[in-house]
Amino acid sequence: MNIDGRAWRTIGLEPDGRSVWVIDQTQLPHRFVTRSLSTIHQAAEAISSMVVRGAPLIGVTGAYGLMLALQDDAGDEALSAAFDQLNATRPTAVNLRWALERVRDRVLPLPSEQRAEAAREEAGLIAEEDVAMCSAIGDHGLTIIQQLAAARPAARRSKPFQLLTHCNAGWLATVDWGTALAPIYKAKRAGLDLHVWVDETRPRNQGASLTAYELGREGIPHTVIVDNAGGHLMQNGEVDAVIVGTDRTTSRGDVCNKIGTYLKALAAHDNGVPFYVALPASTIDWSLSDGLVEIPIEARSAQEVIAIQGRVLDGPAAGSVAEVQLTPEGSNGFNPAFDVTPARLVTALITDRGVADASEEGLKSLYGLD
Ligand code: MRU
Repeated sequence: MNIDGRAWRTIGLEPDGRSVWVIDQTQLPHRFVTRSLSTIHQAAEAISSMVVRGAPLIGVTGAYGLMLALQDDAGDEALSAAFDQLNATRPTAVNLRWALERVRDRVLPLPSEQRAEAAREEAGLIAEEDVAMCSAIGDHGLTIIQQLAAARPAARRSKPFQLLTHCNAGWLATVDWGTALAPIYKAKRAGLDLHVWVDETRPRNQGASLTAYELGREGIPHTVIVDNAGGHLMQNGEVDAVIVGTDRTTSRGDVCNKIGTYLKALAAHDNGVPFYVALPASTIDWSLSDGLVEIPIEARSAQEVIAIQGRVLDGPAAGSVAEVQLTPEGSNGFNPAFDVTPARLVTALITDRGVADASEEGLKSLYGLD
């Protein structure tokens, strides 16, 4: 997608073909910098420190991480250790395990001297498929947005179509297009008048920092709100639909997404606002049914709650990016990074294969023959 008139993706091979560049998302929105990853340790660190984040992008980075490992040592033991190291970086998004398994299964039958090249090819395929799946999600979601916009009462049709999103499920969370934001980008290109309420998404502020950044670069009107404002806006008829992403979707349609998503789903349900979840096939965990008991929820450092990062506005340090403490000395913090929204609160799942009920039947009707 666009940054200052140039089309970007979030990840790619460096010209040498042996290392990988990524956008350093910890620096956004104040600095746009890329980083080069040339070892598995750098790839693992980039995932765990959230230089790259978002379920699909974590998966693609993991796949390239295996390639980096195999360039150094392509033996079975090294492959298994690299798989485990990368898989442990972030536990919730299932795309990581899915992508690592794909690369491992592709290279395992090969002689060691062919493995790194095969991993490079497979990681590239995963990246290209992610772009295609996200674009397809955008097309299916566009149809829904167009239908909802047309069904609005005449009095509301003079206003922009109002969407609310939580966290960042845009192109920065994938290779390109995004999941929840792909329908919004397609709707903009189709000429729909829309506006997006962007939840800031404490504690890492992916909404305020990343979603606002990418929507702004694409010229999409948006307003950042505190996480607690969504329910109030829904009660006042200011939200036509909610669209979020998911890090793991169970076979029966429960969705695990950024902490706070569940509260938005409850508020949407209470106010009759449609609540859509957008996802590629790589985010479905067919081995799990009950999201509430079976999905591992990542607990991140309490430091992310206690402190906040931003650009200094005044004084001698003005313009620099700094971290400041919010809480009194001695207060503890607790930082669960994801929550589970039960399928019953999800209006529908927008997938790369079409729109499905959030249920086993719904998902199987799209993916059942695989
Ligand atoms: O902790 P993050 O920033 O990796 O969390 C990202 C999200 O929760 C996204 O909504 C999710 O990965 C879906 S992304 C397309």
